Amino acid sequence: GAAVEVEIGALQPGEKLTVEWRGKPVWIVRRTPEQLAELSKLDGQLADPNSDRKAYPTPEYAKNAARSIKPEYLVVVGICSHLGCSPSDKFQAGPQPSLPDDWTGGFLCPCHGSTFDLAGRVFKNKPAPDNLEVPPHMYLSDTKLLIG
Ligand code: FES
Repeated sequence: GAAVEVEIGALQPGEKLTVEWRGKPVWIVRRTPEQLAELSKLDGQLADPNSDRKAYPTPEYAKNAARSIKPEYLVVVGICSHLGCSPSDKFQAGPQPSLPDDWTGGFLCPCHGSTFDLAGRVFKNKPAPDNLEVPPHMYLSDTKLLIG
């Protein structure tokens, strides 16, 4: 099959790793405790906080605020659900130019300004119709991930 094994043992808190899966970029982000703490406070500002939308159905094991199996690690396809651009990292908290005032970090799509939180959820209901896709994945060990 097209499954990809990824060693994540060297990934530090606050860092992102990109791997290719079926021709798509998959991001693995190791979130800091502070970043994780923000996720549960954002519900009112998210288009689909519980990942119920179906354009890119979220696997059951990722239907939680962290959208992940292990809260620390986010695994998402790095392609905007609007028209397919590649969002860029905006991991720092606090106000930043061209971002919502109450931004607490995540991803910004340069094409039409969709913003996503650090769980890949659409923030402030910008044009992206769905959260970033969580690809099927599982852990083979504490530090080895299988995507696909
Ligand atoms: Fe990302 Fe349009 S492609 S906002």
